[in-house]
Amino acid sequence: MKFFIDTANLAQIKEAQELGVLDGVTTNPSLMAKEGIKGEENIKKHYVDICNIVTGDVSAEVISTDYEGMIREGDAFAKLHPQIVVKIPMIKEGVKAIKYFSSKGIRTNCTLIFSAGQALVAAKAGASFVSPFIGRLDDVCTDGVELIADIRQIFDNYGIRTEILAASIRHPMHIIQCAKVGADVATCPLSAILALLKHPLTDSGLAQFLADSKK
Ligand code: E4P
Repeated sequence: MKFFIDTANLAQIKEAQELGVLDGVTTNPSLMAKEGIKGEENIKKHYVDICNIVTGDVSAEVISTDYEGMIREGDAFAKLHPQIVVKIPMIKEGVKAIKYFSSKGIRTNCTLIFSAGQALVAAKAGASFVSPFIGRLDDVCTDGVELIADIRQIFDNYGIRTEILAASIRHPMHIIQCAKVGADVATCPLSAILALLKHPLTDSGLAQFLADSKK
């Protein structure tokens, strides 16, 4: 399973990249705003900065909701760097935009996926990734991991090659559960990735080895 980091924070992206297990980055308008990145030119520059830190895919999200606006923004993002994947919301105009980008060979990530039907439509339009938001589903008493499993089954039934990008990950068990049901990618906060490394028996075992080495 690929690991993406879900942030626009350059220090966190660098830290994850230096760990050596990072395959890409996802951002969204809220994450950009959290870092104080405003205005089209600053946003574009920030995406290029991210691409210069990592070696993998970098999802850049459009803010237009009409077809023409999404095409204009997405075309501009795609020209910034070969690692850019244009992130498009799951709305009717977005599906048309995904079809357009796919016909041009520009990769897309269809975001705000909350049902298997939405994932199937995005895949049929040619999305490179679909992003089911599992944490937000869990927040409303709906099993987010079950949605990943349903999409996996549907894509496997038809040999659909669109990658399932589990998003809205809140904790390390989400990552493990998504890996068990076959998500292709998990996009996570840095804290969830780092939490995978931790085990109290590792810490106590290492402390014992170091103490014994001094005997
Ligand atoms: C995905 O690409 C989104 O940026 C993200 O995972 C949303 O997560 P949230 O529900 O924690 O905002």
